[in-house]
Amino acid sequence: MNKSCYAMVVTRLGPPDVMQYESVAMPVAKDHEALIEQTAIGVNFVDIYLRAGQAHAHNPEPPFVTGVHAVGIVKQIGNAVTEVKVGDRVTYTNAGVGTYCSHVAVASDRLVHVPNNVSDERCTAGFVRVMTAQYLLKQMRTLHPGDKVLIHAAAGGTGQVLVQWAKRLQLEVFATAGSEEKIHFVQALGADHVINYRTQDFAKEVARITGGKGVKVVFESVGKDTFMSSLECLEPKGLAINFGTASGQVENFALQTLHAKSLWICRPTLRTYIADKRDLQAMALETFEILGDPSFRLDIEAVLPLKEAAKAHTMIESRLTKGAVVLIP
Ligand SMILES: NC(=O)c1ccc[n+]([C@@H]2O[C@H](COP(=O)([O-])OP(=O)(O)OC[C@H]3O[C@@H](n4cnc5c(N)ncnc54)[C@H](OP(=O)(O)O)[C@@H]3O)[C@@H](O)[C@H]2O)c1
Repeated sequence: MNKSCYAMVVTRLGPPDVMQYESVAMPVAKDHEALIEQTAIGVNFVDIYLRAGQAHAHNPEPPFVTGVHAVGIVKQIGNAVTEVKVGDRVTYTNAGVGTYCSHVAVASDRLVHVPNNVSDERCTAGFVRVMTAQYLLKQMRTLHPGDKVLIHAAAGGTGQVLVQWAKRLQLEVFATAGSEEKIHFVQALGADHVINYRTQDFAKEVARITGGKGVKVVFESVGKDTFMSSLECLEPKGLAINFGTASGQVENFALQTLHAKSLWICRPTLRTYIADKRDLQAMALETFEILGDPSFRLDIEAVLPLKEAAKAHTMIESRLTKGAVVLIP
């Protein structure tokens, strides 16, 4: 095996070009680890938070490798590994290692086998996003057919998954997106009411369409620019799930804001929902049912070489992407 491998290293916190393509030492799998030769790497918004230093307690000090998800082949296993063998095709996320690299040693209990009917690219585009949609739609609030929900950034990687899955659950979907092209895309995914939140007051639109009643849950991934207006969209006892902060964090929030309508808010992360390896495997099973279904749309905006990770980040931060971006090491 080669004695070296390569990685996009975050040399300091900052804009996309702080990532430098470097040759690094080949990792060696310890007792409970497997060495993975990566074949495709997912680009998720959290990679940007990490690179820019916005991931709070979880932000490593540079130099480090960003990224939370990849697919690859097991090349070597440690003495105590039972879950996988050499040659297996696996994926992993939130395993405590950076993924923008050619090879990585991962704790074997974080690995999930990828079924043959799911390609590397589709897995990297969708695994984290479908796992996320799984807990958001099925583990946070009981939703019944006909319930109204609002999904922000619905043309994005996670947004498009949420819209389609919500429609499969027969929910009435209100969705927002940031350009006319994205509006058409989200309509084609089946959303019932699509609002351009850069040109329209989405809270007023939701109030108009629902006759002032509001929605049961808001899936809120934009944060600073939308969160307070999202609360206005909720029915009494409604739930706002702030699961992302693409526009910045919600700061100085006054708890009393929730009082008048007895609202609920929460700030969850996939990491917690898959911390237990049994939960990880159960959610992955359901996720691969979705990923293995060709009628479930998962658009890939671009497939780029790992060396062009900065370009991938720039595209996403400029709000130019619909669907996912994938890196190939
Ligand atoms: N907590 C969790 O467990 C978890 C797991 C996965 C993802 N997430 C979150 O889910 C969100 C979506 O992630 P993703 O990887 O699928 O990304 P993405 O949705 O493909 O891209 C982010 C989208 O956010 C919208 N946006 C609004 N304001 C923005 C701004 N100021 N800068 C950049 N984008 C802005 C843009 O859509 P428009 O142009 O339509 O506005 C953009 O396309 C992120 O916030 C991410 O952190 C959370």
